[in-house]
Amino acid sequence: MSTAVNDRLQDSVLVNEWHPVYKASELKDEPVGVIVMGERVALFRSKNGVNAFRDLCIHRGAMLSKGYIKNDTLVCPYHGWQYDDKGNCVCIPAQGKDKKIPVRAKAEGYHCIEKYGIVWVCLGEPKSDLPDIPEFEDPSYRPLVCGPYEVKAAGTRVVENFTDFAHLMYVHGGLLGHPDYAELPDFQIFKEEDRIYTDDVPIFQPVAHSGSDAKEGTTYVYVKEVFRPLVGKLSKRDADTGQTLYILLTVLPINDKECTVYMAVARNYGFDVPDEQFIQFQDTVFEQDAWIIETQKPELLPLDLQAELNHKVDILSVAYRRWLKELGVTIGTT
Ligand code: FES
Repeated sequence: MSTAVNDRLQDSVLVNEWHPVYKASELKDEPVGVIVMGERVALFRSKNGVNAFRDLCIHRGAMLSKGYIKNDTLVCPYHGWQYDDKGNCVCIPAQGKDKKIPVRAKAEGYHCIEKYGIVWVCLGEPKSDLPDIPEFEDPSYRPLVCGPYEVKAAGTRVVENFTDFAHLMYVHGGLLGHPDYAELPDFQIFKEEDRIYTDDVPIFQPVAHSGSDAKEGTTYVYVKEVFRPLVGKLSKRDADTGQTLYILLTVLPINDKECTVYMAVARNYGFDVPDEQFIQFQDTVFEQDAWIIETQKPELLPLDLQAELNHKVDILSVAYRRWLKELGVTIGTT
């Protein structure tokens, strides 16, 4: 697969990461256009799977994503050139069928895969595989995809918020915690080559709006992880019943101050609850997250650890910022 990374992105660390670009279930028989790190990308599904091309026809620069699928090829809407899923132009309608197609008549392709119900694109050369999350393929879990959610902030702010425990009782008060139970236990973090994660962090969640002193509620055990610069994961387990929720949060950087968030979710409970209801709950929670994230200044996550005041409960966030600095991820898309 050839790649089509322009000079602006050549030195970017994130160019070699997998980015979530679309819900797989919604990529059907028409091409769509997405923006990845400022680049226009055309997505389409062929019989071999999902494909991503630079969204620009080599003939006269029209957007391939505005075209259509015919005979398993992507047809440019301007003059009808047809590209197969390898990017080869296989038909130029304005010339006779016996005429040779120019060698340069190709669509430039990007790496593209489908996993966890999401279509992923890498503009450069993938630096690593996507995280392996067995629960999403485990039949005792029910998988679904939430999002996309548009956020006016750098993707790193979103991932950092995802790793944060202390906001649950405030931003999500009544849903995921309560300010009266805001004290956090001590916890540790561990760092491996491509992964930073916490040990078990128990958080008490009182019965919502009970207003009683009876301390009725549930203790959930959280583990939070960061896999790649823009991919995080959490597990939330009911300590008594073992009911567990996994969320893989992954961020598509649009530009330095905007991103799109997808969440692959799997749960081993509540199969009788319609997915729509479950998604609605996650929508509400993420709306609350986005609301607070968009108030943060600067939009770009500061990697100078003196720039903001770190507290001991921020150890995962501090480790994440250190890791981003080591990787050379300094701003939203570079
Ligand atoms: Fe695409 Fe002419 S611009 S076929």
